[in-house]
Amino acid sequence: MQTLEEMLQMARGAMEKSYSPYSEFPVGAVIKAQSGKLYAGCNVENAAYPAGSCAEQGAISAMILGGDTKIQEMVVMGNGKQLVSPCGSCRQRIREFADPETVIHICDKNGVRKSMTLDELLPVSFGPENLKC
Ligand code: THU
Repeated sequence: MQTLEEMLQMARGAMEKSYSPYSEFPVGAVIKAQSGKLYAGCNVENAAYPAGSCAEQGAISAMILGGDTKIQEMVVMGNGKQLVSPCGSCRQRIREFADPETVIHICDKNGVRKSMTLDELLPVSFGPENLKC
């Protein structure tokens, strides 16, 4: 699929820009928003370790700044034997802007390793609807 290839290419570029001198673990994330626009992010670490941010956070910030609020599809890319799936906090961050059926592609530089829905990654989740009593 054309768009998925574009997303993979952008994620590779985001990994290259990653600022991860402490973990040496670059991560790239790309969101395809409902508008069709693509937004990328990379992890940005900090000498005060907890102040670092994940690639998914960066991509979400770019999406909001770009005027979109709905994630249609997402790529998360990193190296290693294990799948680089979004961390727990990022699953919740994605949840704010996605549907249970939204697909997240867990990738390495060669392409998609596993595709999962948000509901599979974060079942019985808490979102904006829960606040409507
Ligand atoms: N990291 C991400 O950017 N996204 C994830 O979902 C998993 C972890 C980053 C955070 C940190 O900079 C590095 O990977 C190692 O944990």
